[in-house]
Amino acid sequence: MLAYIWAEASNHVIGQNGKLPWHLPDDMQFFKDQTINHQILAGKRTYDSFGRPLPKRKNLVLTHFPQSDFPAGVKVFKTIDEFLQYAKGYPNEVIFVVGGTSVFKELLPYVDYLYRTSINHEFNGDVRMIDIDYSQFELEQQVPGKVDKNNVYPHTFDVFKRKK
Ligand SMILES: NC(=O)c1ccc[n+]([C@@H]2O[C@H](COP(=O)([O-])OP(=O)(O)OC[C@H]3O[C@@H](n4cnc5c(N)ncnc54)[C@H](OP(=O)(O)O)[C@@H]3O)[C@@H](O)[C@H]2O)c1
Repeated sequence: MLAYIWAEASNHVIGQNGKLPWHLPDDMQFFKDQTINHQILAGKRTYDSFGRPLPKRKNLVLTHFPQSDFPAGVKVFKTIDEFLQYAKGYPNEVIFVVGGTSVFKELLPYVDYLYRTSINHEFNGDVRMIDIDYSQFELEQQVPGKVDKNNVYPHTFDVFKRKK
């Protein structure tokens, strides 16, 4: 089962210069809470943005770079089909797809859940979230994020499930 997890600004920006455009520890904590002990799939640039394999998660990476370029424990896929074959081996597990855009675009027909953090603020950026037809999904959960001196942007955690 595949789930997307990402945070997007009100102008749909998700990245700037290979990083997140915002500092929002509440969302980082949400990301951690959801993905911990799960497998996560990242495109190469998103993987690089982490700076290291994320701990307590099996890190899967889509890239044309060879497996030998990555630390032990990281699993590399050269094509989406290779990843989809692998994912079939885990029918009872959620694999979190963490971006970026080409990965989100290519796996859209297969995704079951969407974990979207909507940040109520516009940011400059060079990467935007793909268009998603939300009429194919139903909102299962909507929780307001914490706003305080460390989390200055209002944000909402939404979880959508694909309609049957
Ligand atoms: N706000 C969020 O929630 C969020 C989430 C994710 C990412 N981001 C941001 O978005 C930016 C990175 O995303 P991005 O869209 O630029 O890049 P990306 O999708 O993470 O990485 C692109 C790379 O992934 C590999 N790749 C993608 N599809 C592939 C396929 N079908 N087969 C083989 N390899 C494939 C290729 O790597 P090779 O060139 O190595 O072959 C490609 O150059 C960063 O700024 C990051 O911080 C934000």
